[in-house]
Amino acid sequence: MLILSLPPKQPLIIMNEDIIKLTHLTKRYGYGDTESFALKDFNLTIKRGEFIMIMGPSGCGKTTLLNIIGLLDRATSGEYLLNGESVANISARRQARLRAKKIGFIFQNFNLIEDLPILENVALPLVYVGYPRTVRLKSASNALSRFHLQEKEYYHPSQLSGGQQQRAAIARAIVADPEIILADEPTGNLDSRASSIVMEELKAIHAEGNTIIMVTHNPALTTYATRVINMLDGSIATDIKTVSDQNLPKSSTSKSKKRKKSPKTTKSAKTRRKK
Ligand SMILES: Nc1ncnc2c1ncn2[C@@H]1O[C@H](COP(=O)(O)OP(=O)(O)OP(=O)(O)O)[C@@H](O)[C@H]1O
Ligand SMILES: [Mg+2]
Repeated sequence: MLILSLPPKQPLIIMNEDIIKLTHLTKRYGYGDTESFALKDFNLTIKRGEFIMIMGPSGCGKTTLLNIIGLLDRATSGEYLLNGESVANISARRQARLRAKKIGFIFQNFNLIEDLPILENVALPLVYVGYPRTVRLKSASNALSRFHLQEKEYYHPSQLSGGQQQRAAIARAIVADPEIILADEPTGNLDSRASSIVMEELKAIHAEGNTIIMVTHNPALTTYATRVINMLDGSIATDIKTVSDQNLPKSSTSKSKKRKKSPKTTKSAKTRRKK
């Protein structure tokens, strides 16, 4: 009898594959005499685990680029592949689901809803993911304790300092365990101390294998990046990698899926809370 010996099954570890690929991307506003281009023949490939900082003068297209990557806006022409799939072929409904599950947003002015307590603000992205309310609130509470805001759960945004509001906004951005974090000048409204705390949190999120794309006007923050891109007039002027692709933090799909399905209090969150 022929006995075939098969190698043991290996867990699927996905390392640093292209998570975003933009080819000949253009964003045009207006027609004829009023025509202008926020992005011009823009080409960029982003690997999983990169921490990219985007710099450049006001009006060069940074926010436009983040909005297109975050599926909040559409390019006029060109191709956008997200995890190898052309975004143009994805229905608006599925794009909304993808946005909720895969992408977390952080804005300069925090964008928290004043009428809702912090806990409800942080739980909001999970509505779109489809979790029941009790699970949503538990996950939001865990995310807030990660950022040392567990005592502020029932406060409203205006009752928090700018730094605390931005940490709550980061908790909201990561609560659904997205793969990509988009941050548009997240420290723009913060003093240097609050700014360092926020950057350290982003550093920790990056070290877990997440991909971060952040816009900043502050060159000092580029020390946190693995790649620094300077934009000018809707195109890339310079693109410098400070960490090689092999040395980017690794992430495994199985790990991230497991985390997504388990909204229970994590061990690390429990330990942090005891401190
Ligand atoms: N809705 C719009 N209609 C027309 N033009 C627009 C629109 N949105 C953006 N633009 C133009 O696109 C260009 C890029 O804008 P964008 O907001 O991306 O710049 P930015 O690099 O983020 O600037 P900042 O550093 O000031 O935030 C600008 O010239 C802007 O005027
Ligand atoms: Mg902008």
